Amino acid sequence: MSLSTPAYASFRSIGAYIPQKVLSNSDLEAMVDTSDEWITKRTGIKERRIAATDEYTSDMGTEASKKAIERAGIDKEEIDLIMCATVTPDYFNMPSTACIISDKLGIRNVQAFDISAACSGFVYLLSLAKAFIESGMKKNILIIGAEKFSSIIDYTDRGTCILFGDGAGAAIISSTTDKEEAFMDIHASADGTYADFLVTPAPGSMHPVSQEVIDKGLNFVQMKGNETFKLAVKTLTKDVIEILKNNSITAEDIPHFIPHQANYRIIKAVGDALKMTEEQVVVTVEKYGNTSAASIPMAINDIYESGRLKYGELMLLDTFGGGLTWASALLPFAGKTIES
Ligand code: UT7
Repeated sequence: MSLSTPAYASFRSIGAYIPQKVLSNSDLEAMVDTSDEWITKRTGIKERRIAATDEYTSDMGTEASKKAIERAGIDKEEIDLIMCATVTPDYFNMPSTACIISDKLGIRNVQAFDISAACSGFVYLLSLAKAFIESGMKKNILIIGAEKFSSIIDYTDRGTCILFGDGAGAAIISSTTDKEEAFMDIHASADGTYADFLVTPAPGSMHPVSQEVIDKGLNFVQMKGNETFKLAVKTLTKDVIEILKNNSITAEDIPHFIPHQANYRIIKAVGDALKMTEEQVVVTVEKYGNTSAASIPMAINDIYESGRLKYGELMLLDTFGGGLTWASALLPFAGKTIES
């Protein structure tokens, strides 16, 4: 490519890994004081997937990556950067899960690192991939959102254990000169004022592992659910309205609105505010729960595998999570339409 030819980032492929074990609402009824009726009404979730004891975040990320690489039609040797978004890495905090995935894929001598942006992680990675490609530094980037959230959940806390699940999604982002395939826009932001809304206090420099950490359960997720809920609806709606306005696109021009799968009520409130139809809004929360950084790529994979997502169609991604972080992206799907 000559220096004068601009390089654009394109979304070349998607893959996902869904753990086998199902944790249903009725299973949870036997574990905490809750009911299928309450969970369904307040969250829309019916079941979530849980990784096996000896199945780690890197294993799920590796399986999702294999599919994404195969579907991109590239050789793994062509990948020049691997980035993984996770808040449940194999190790707190080194080596990175991206390094372990690179080893499991047999990809050597490429830059590999993790980022921590909770549920916003995958869209944050899209913004990084765009910058790496547009600067000409990289050509084929593997991005992964993978979580073993069950490893940081207290299954006696009904405020969190009903929501979260495990899984992984991955995508290949490639350089292209075709503007029709290029990412249109990405917006990623954060506000640490609300850092205490979603916290895993340990392990970390503030709370290294100790007997006190174990006794107080500081290694588990703590969430101010209702406060997070209200802020999520407000922020997600504002973010989507802004990105559409900045790109002179109306909500009805979007065939696939793929919001973070945290709670059906949040998805419905944002979709209604935008006057989106049910066909436009992608919902997977009923079967996977909230899989944090894996939620958006797993949802993209779902519509891809069902044949609903086709080459050239526009995706609007919108996410929100711990930090607090949020992000939205407007981009066409530049992968091959699945053969049915
Ligand atoms: O992905 C990162 C971002 N995270 C989120 O977006 C999570 C956002 N938050 C939520 O999804 C919701 O806030 C929850 C599902 C966590 C909770 O729903 P809510 O409608 O906000 O309920 P609430 O916390 O206001 O609690 C209402 C009632 C309380 O009882 P009282 O005080 O009214 O008697 C809770 O104790 O529901 C009770 N409750 C439950 N009851 C049965 C809370 N959790 C449960 C439960 N089963 N699992």
